[in-house]
Amino acid sequence: MDYGMQNRLSRIIKPKDGKTVMLAVDHGYFMGPTAGLENIKKSISPLLEYADSLMLTRGILRTQINPEIDIPVVLRVSGGTSILKDDLSDEDITVSMEDAVRLNVCAVALSVFIGSSNEKQGIINLSKLVDKGNKYGIPVLAVTAVGREMARDARYLSLAVRIAAETGASIVKTYYCEDFNRVIETCPVPVVVAGGKKTGELEALKLAYNAVKHGAAGVDMGRNIFQSEKPINMIKAVKEVVHGGISPEDAYGKIYNI
Ligand code: 5RP
Repeated sequence: MDYGMQNRLSRIIKPKDGKTVMLAVDHGYFMGPTAGLENIKKSISPLLEYADSLMLTRGILRTQINPEIDIPVVLRVSGGTSILKDDLSDEDITVSMEDAVRLNVCAVALSVFIGSSNEKQGIINLSKLVDKGNKYGIPVLAVTAVGREMARDARYLSLAVRIAAETGASIVKTYYCEDFNRVIETCPVPVVVAGGKKTGELEALKLAYNAVKHGAAGVDMGRNIFQSEKPINMIKAVKEVVHGGISPEDAYGKIYNI
């Protein structure tokens, strides 16, 4: 792997422990003003110092993030649909690699919807993005999106994750599931898990803990952080679980000073 690619990856997944806490705030690319992100600058500014990287769209990066802030950026570069459509899988590449370079990002992210009506389009988009990324030394994070219909079990997710890795993704983002070790064991690149819909803080911390215990490189978590009543304490707790290996119960106790 060349220097640029390796250096960018090292800024996302910390070499000291091979783990990462990515803060995902890219939901607006198909969900519009998502709860908790209506005033995105106000909600996420206090969280940035605790996140290992920030996943977002170029529109939000350009307008809402101070370029003097030193945070590795993972840029969402797929889109083309919205929650108003039944089928969310009809995505394409929405940002050129040249613009990603201009924005000085550490990785670009694209969703693939394996098993959907647009499966081939997603895989071909991923392969084109990987080709472009290789040209410029920009790693690609593939998101194995499940849309509304797809299962979230180890059989499906290991298939989707492996296809993303085989196509050339440097990191794959997926969902945690029962028998998650099957997903990890069959994937040759680091895997991070999404938090999914807002749950209780303890449940989200348990998800992070179990994902890492079974071999994930960390989390790319959004709603369970920025929709928490105590988002700063929550991201700190997630970091303690992912990087510090503390139990979800102990981390939860710290959020509410129990
Ligand atoms: C959307 C995404 C989001 O970044 C992802 O879902 C992570 O956020 P959350 O923890 O809220 O699920 O990739 O496709």
